[in-house]
Amino acid sequence: MTYQEFYNNSMADPTAFWKAQADAIDWFEKPSDISFKDENSLYRWYKGGQLNTSHLALDYHVANGRGDQPAIFYDSPVTDTKETITYAQLLDRVARFAGVLKAQGVEKGDTVIIYMPMIPQTVVAMLACARLGAIHSVVFGGFAAHELAIRINDAKPKLILTASAGKEINRVIDYMKIVNPALDEAEHQVQGVIVYQRDILEAPLKEGRDFDWDVLLADAEPADCVPVESTDPLYILYTSGTTGKPKGIVRDNGGHAVAMKFSMKYIYGVEPGEVYWAASDVGWVVGHSYIVYAPLIHGCTTVLYEGKPVRTPDAGAFWRVLEEYGVSVFFTAPTAFRAIKKEDSEAKLKAQYDTSKLRYLFLAGERCDVSTLEWCQDVLQVPVIDHWWQTESGWPMLANMAGVELLPVKPGSAGKPVCGYDLKVVGPDGEPVPPNTEGAVVIRLPLAPGTLPNLWQDTARFIDSYLSPYPGYYFTGDGGYIDEDGYVFITGRIDDIINVAGHRLSTAEMEEVVAAHPLVAECAVIGVHDDLKGQIPVGFVVLKAGADIADAELEHELIKMVRDQVGPVASFKKATVVQRLPKTRSGKILRRIMRHIVDGKPYNPPSTIEDMSVLPELEAQVREAQV
Ligand code: COA
Ligand code: AMP
Repeated sequence: MTYQEFYNNSMADPTAFWKAQADAIDWFEKPSDISFKDENSLYRWYKGGQLNTSHLALDYHVANGRGDQPAIFYDSPVTDTKETITYAQLLDRVARFAGVLKAQGVEKGDTVIIYMPMIPQTVVAMLACARLGAIHSVVFGGFAAHELAIRINDAKPKLILTASAGKEINRVIDYMKIVNPALDEAEHQVQGVIVYQRDILEAPLKEGRDFDWDVLLADAEPADCVPVESTDPLYILYTSGTTGKPKGIVRDNGGHAVAMKFSMKYIYGVEPGEVYWAASDVGWVVGHSYIVYAPLIHGCTTVLYEGKPVRTPDAGAFWRVLEEYGVSVFFTAPTAFRAIKKEDSEAKLKAQYDTSKLRYLFLAGERCDVSTLEWCQDVLQVPVIDHWWQTESGWPMLANMAGVELLPVKPGSAGKPVCGYDLKVVGPDGEPVPPNTEGAVVIRLPLAPGTLPNLWQDTARFIDSYLSPYPGYYFTGDGGYIDEDGYVFITGRIDDIINVAGHRLSTAEMEEVVAAHPLVAECAVIGVHDDLKGQIPVGFVVLKAGADIADAELEHELIKMVRDQVGPVASFKKATVVQRLPKTRSGKILRRIMRHIVDGKPYNPPSTIEDMSVLPELEAQVREAQV
């Protein structure tokens, strides 16, 4: 079947289409209804279906002859460690750790925060929660204590699972120095903290609150899978919104499992038994879906890589991993290849490695610039597929569905809509715009299975953020256009979210921190172009009258504040003092115009601008500060 026929089927009869896809997973109880609306009139999938995601990822495969197949290749150049874990071994570890959680009182429907690095224990922790029907919320290790505290208050976890340390290229990250202040700051009090002690650092444990992972594990009884409803949450993953408060994206069990399985076969074109590698972090949605759940549900071997594309130890690291594990399909963010290209522009190190098992390279997480795409094609000699999705969708919405029919690659486009997604580009009136005309990217409801059904305990915000802007559609927050051949080009966020090295960040969160400096009267943080990271945040601050501080000193203090409160991942390294910020007469800061000024792009000031003379003044200051 061609892509177009397959896609048309999914649009013509979604119920039949997603019923057939649901048959690919091992339900305890098959769903009675494929698609329905819940008590909030929101679309849901697979009513009455009962399953367990840990069963699908582990028990099912062990029962069906994959026990001795590697489930995980753990490769950690930062700690010089490698480990192969078979499906049978992973099942044993997960069942026993689920026993630990059960003994701590964790039950179906409880929440558990996981703040851990890229180690096998993190995967075990996620699957152990899933096994009990508990809802995990993984927090990325690059976020600071304050961000962790926000998530603790919102998710209200019974337990926190953590490790003594993470390892970055240049330093060991002492996790308890983040967990302790986060717990001090949070209003919600957890019942306990389970700490995995790594060889690189031994964490001091607080009597009565903290427990040693291995000590608890030594006496644990393995726990069985608890059947859950298809609509029960599997996890909450917080992602940046347009305010200082992150959004708790909810993922259900049933739709997610079906979507994961479907995407491996039909988008990534990978077979059970093959090796699939997503070079990301389990703290992001890419890590949830394509390091942990999809490869395991599909019976692949996943690579868990605790390292960077460069400097661990060199720009040949990715080629080495591709060869060593015989990776068939590889997925990462374009920024990773820009980093490699910067250090080894002719990919000389590639000559040392045989990557002939690789069939496809998939890129996502940020816009893929054409030169990076072409460089990857030249170096790897396989189709390089840009595809587009977001934390909310949990899996691709635009792609080149390699498992169905590989369409010609159009550089700059993230491909065509994936089955189940009725994607449109609309104008301000909510009506679809003609081909090659830019507008807001929206998806007609219902969204495909596996996408967010709601925000964690905040239906009003869910409706307000995603459903209200364009009635009948889900609003993605991205802008783009569709060309005459139906290829979609994503041009970037049309809200105040920025994308730094493939990491999604909120400028509003950074502004809250910068504005809290005692000498700052007002500020704007905007994302400006960066050759390596795509975008980086830059702060523009107006000082309070009479403030007496050197610009460099203020910048240093603001950088430290953002690093301490949002985290190093924000990459906030530049703040500049300006006289005034451009605003509308109603006081709204014109961030889009500021972005254009900094990126040296033409702009049209809106008629609502308060004072036109601020623009040349700002241009001069930006030039002087070399932003
Ligand atoms: N724990 C603690 N700190 C972390 C961290 C973690 N898990 N992850 C990143 N950081 C820190 C980094 O050490 C760095 O600190 P520094 O300012 O002291 O140098 C800072 O956060 C910024 O990190 P990053 O943006 O990753 O920059 P980098 O210079 O370390 O690496 C790349 C740049 C491009 C090599 C890297 O971002 C990368 O490989 N990205 C692509 C893959 C990816 O993960 N994409 C995510 C979605 S697919
Ligand atoms: P996240 O929720 O962290 O996965 O970030 C999602 C956002 O990243 C999207 O809304 C886009 O703005 C951006 N993004 C992801 N993939 C792509 C892509 N292939 N092309 C352009 N932008 C992308």
